[in-house]
Amino acid sequence: MADRGHWGSKLGFVLAAAGSAVGLGNIWKFPYITGENGGGAFVLIYLLCIVVVGLPVMTAEILLGRATQKSPVGAVKALGGGFWVVFGGLGVLGGFVILSYYSVVAGWAMHYTYLALSGQIVGLGPEGVEPLFGSLFTSNGLNLFWHALFMIVTVAVVWGGVNKGIERWARILMPTLFGLMIILLVNSFTMSGFGEAFDFIFGFHTEALTAAGVLEALGHAFFTLSLGMGAMLTYGSYLDRNDDIVVSAITISILDTVIALTACMVLFPIIFSYGMEPASGPGLVFVSIPIAMSQMHGGTFFAFIFFALLVFAALTSAISLLEVVTSYLIDEKGWLRHKATVFAGVVIALIGIPSALSGGTYLFGDGFAGVFGRNWFDTFDYLASNWILPLGGLGISMFTAWRVDDAIRHREFLDGSRLGVFYKGWLVLLKYVVPVGIVLVFLHAIGVI
Ligand code: TRP
Repeated sequence: MADRGHWGSKLGFVLAAAGSAVGLGNIWKFPYITGENGGGAFVLIYLLCIVVVGLPVMTAEILLGRATQKSPVGAVKALGGGFWVVFGGLGVLGGFVILSYYSVVAGWAMHYTYLALSGQIVGLGPEGVEPLFGSLFTSNGLNLFWHALFMIVTVAVVWGGVNKGIERWARILMPTLFGLMIILLVNSFTMSGFGEAFDFIFGFHTEALTAAGVLEALGHAFFTLSLGMGAMLTYGSYLDRNDDIVVSAITISILDTVIALTACMVLFPIIFSYGMEPASGPGLVFVSIPIAMSQMHGGTFFAFIFFALLVFAALTSAISLLEVVTSYLIDEKGWLRHKATVFAGVVIALIGIPSALSGGTYLFGDGFAGVFGRNWFDTFDYLASNWILPLGGLGISMFTAWRVDDAIRHREFLDGSRLGVFYKGWLVLLKYVVPVGIVLVFLHAIGVI
């Protein structure tokens, strides 16, 4: 059998997996949903979801991957098969769907990095910066250009393989990302709005928290930890038997959470210092922040650092999404890595074109929106976050808890583990708590509750 790839070291795995987890979800989405849900209490609920739902599922995914040394479809086949294989297939589908629009948003971050670098953010001033996003959003040429470029870079990394591509780039990009984050944090610390921001994020404000917000926190815990479609499973399949699964899952989750909270502590002081709205939605990062930075001392420098960081975060996540599809073609179809990577990359780039065109409304216009009440871009995001990931997560946790043979599961949990005592507790969470949580998110998504 051809060598399907292997991590060079345990640190390499943790950095690559943290790279998958830390992405647009942490730096773009988490701050704006925190803003919309009023901060404090929402953050606390989110932390609870990470521990009670995210951590057990991440442990399950890494365990299934390491036990079988296979990507999602092969892993499920090896440990029980039957109808459960559907969930493996759902993961591969998720890779296509998520990466196709993720790449478009990453392209926006690239465009803003370019705008910052060419001095335009500060040069245009607040009034000039405000319409920038609108003109980017509606420019087919710009969207296609950045989308294509981002996909080419992603393919180039995955082409290099597990050790020489994914791990090598994680070792460069992740420390860079941490460093850039610290520079931005130090700057925000000195701003007048820091105190207000700190209170907003960590003060226990329950006023703005709704049931919908709680479910949004739970859904986001999935997305931000890259769970529900076998990305962590795939990365786990390149691990050695003696690596510690539980400690790895905890480390990855902590890194992801620290980055998400730091992103808030970077962004909200800027928002409050310049009198902008914390609840400005998806435009928080692409509209409000550039407007504030255009007036900031050293704005060109900080805008460049921030958007470059956003691109790096998106890249290490996109890599994991492409790797799920690539490894499926390698493991199940017997393709060589180079062929698999290019094929998957090209197909995903093509699927992403409608998302890139005129804010995703170009091809289907109102006709498509009429059916789903959304444009192409929103439809994909909605499909992934509300259907594919919760369903996939439900499948993975139920499969692990109810179908996989206990002897195999228990031995795998203990192998290389320093935290073997948590086996029973983990299983209880996986059997009962996780499925109930996901079903609630699901019912909410389809409007039942
Ligand atoms: N976790 C990433 C983020 O927060 C996105 C991501 C990468 C992802 N791989 C995934 C989400 C797999 C779900 C499944 O931006």
